[in-house]
Amino acid sequence: MGEIVRLQKYIAMSGEASRRGAEGMISEGRVTVNGEKVREQGVKVEVGADVVCLDGRELKISNKDYYIALNKPVGYVSTAKDQFDRPTVVDLVKTDLPQARIFPVGRLDYDTEGLLLLTTDGDFAYKVSHPKFNTDKTYIAKIKGGISISGLARLRKGVKIEDYVTSPAEVEILDAADNHTFVKITIHEGKNRQVRKMFEAVGCKVAALQRTSIGVVELGNLPIGRWRHLTKYEVNYLMNK
Ligand code: URA
Repeated sequence: MGEIVRLQKYIAMSGEASRRGAEGMISEGRVTVNGEKVREQGVKVEVGADVVCLDGRELKISNKDYYIALNKPVGYVSTAKDQFDRPTVVDLVKTDLPQARIFPVGRLDYDTEGLLLLTTDGDFAYKVSHPKFNTDKTYIAKIKGGISISGLARLRKGVKIEDYVTSPAEVEILDAADNHTFVKITIHEGKNRQVRKMFEAVGCKVAALQRTSIGVVELGNLPIGRWRHLTKYEVNYLMNK
């Protein structure tokens, strides 16, 4: 049996209109289900079984893959379902997409914000997150106090975190204000809490952390909690590294 969804969601999932637009189409009498005109909202249909037409033209839900960039807020877990029922990043990728199939590519900590990719494509997730493909990830860390020249040099060269030595990183001080320093750091791996541990290794405490890019994908001015589709260029770049 296919997924059961409301008619307006079905129309939105087909890419024909937003949900609100779909509601208008329904009330204008432009939509039929299995040949019957439907004018009321909230009717449910089964994806893959019921035939939905707009102005007599059948709307199909393709099973194409999704590639999404989300600006993750602090306070969301990077999983599809949380054992403690905390809000998840998948909750934010709102319901016009077949949510169940979407999963985050790698993770950001609960207390980290910024760019997180989500997809339905396992190959894409593997290419972006596996260390052997060396995808650059850039973060802005707000650290308490300052950082020494030797601390910067050590971060650039590689530091020991637990039993692992990080690969060379690009590190740049962006700004300093209110007893904090903003440091931009680009790393090529993605160990658990790596950036926080790298700063700890040089005696600095990270007060806030934001990821701003993954390869060619930039967070840009995507508002916090909002998402967008990746462009073809971005997907191809990450897939063909
Ligand atoms: N490094 C961290 O410490 N936390 C993240 O969420 C990502 C990278």
